Order: sequence, then structure tokens, then C-alpha cells
Amino acid sequence: MMRILVLHGPNLNLLGRREPELYGHATLTDITAMLDGLAKDLGVALDHAQSNHEGVLIDRLHSAMDTHAGVVINPGGLTHTSVSLRDALAATELPFVEVHLSNVHAREEFRSRSLLVDLAVGQVAGFGPASYSLGLRGIVEHLRPPHPI
Ligand code: DQA
Repeated sequence: MMRILVLHGPNLNLLGRREPELYGHATLTDITAMLDGLAKDLGVALDHAQSNHEGVLIDRLHSAMDTHAGVVINPGGLTHTSVSLRDALAATELPFVEVHLSNVHAREEFRSRSLLVDLAVGQVAGFGPASYSLGLRGIVEHLRPPHPI
């Protein structure tokens, strides 16, 4: 069965308590359960990881190189700053979708710049937890052989 890695960056462990007016009330556990349900419907297997440390995220990507078909990643603030995370995504050549709970393009100007997105299959932002489900649907659609509509 196709395996997809779901990766969450810094501060996303605090979802549910962290600035709920921006990020909502769903916790990371809620989002994980929601994605596991969707993965079952889609017939794919997920592995989930969150870290507040750039190097841990990079190590997780490296270890997914030979085991996973693609990645759904919310890089958090590293989206806007991390050349090393970008390099890891490029090095692994894993297709990925970048997701954000909030609409990063409607916030501070620095948030509309992503150092990763030009390498991504696509970006989903602004739909709260549904950004992750749309991102998962997107990467699975991308990875599956083409089918007539
Ligand atoms: C975020 C947006 C980022 O700008 C921010 O640093 C986050 C969360 C989002 O999901 O909306 O940590 O990635």
C-alpha cells in the first residue's frame, strides 16, 4: 500500500491552544485522526510526525526517501526561512504538498513567501484542518496513475 508521510513543523504541537482565532480549535490529535480516516477511504497508509526542530524534520524526510511515495507537510514558520528544509525536500525528490491552516497570503507580508512552494506539487492554505485533507487528496491524486474523469 502506498505510504504518505504527514509532517508538521514548529509549534503545531500546540494546535487547539495556539492562537485559536488563527488556527482554530482542532488539536494535532484531531487532525491525525481525521487524516487516518480519509487515508482508509483513499486506500493509502499514513505516518505522522511533528517536531519543533528543523534537523529532526530533515532527518525524517531523509528516512522517508525509500519508504514513502510522497509527503504532506505543514512546515510552520520554517516555510518562510528554511533553506535547509528546502534542500532536504529537493534532495529526497519526494513529491510533496505544502499545507497551511491559515491563509498565509492574507497575513503579514513575510508569510506569503515560501522557500519551498516552487518545489511542491501544490499548496493548500486557508481551510483550517481541511487544508490537510485537501493536501492528502492532492498528493494521492498526483501519485496515482491518470484515470478518465
Ligand atoms: C502556518 C502558517 C505559518 O506562517 C506559521 O508560522 C505557522 C502555521 C499555518 O498552518 O497556517 O506556524 O504554517
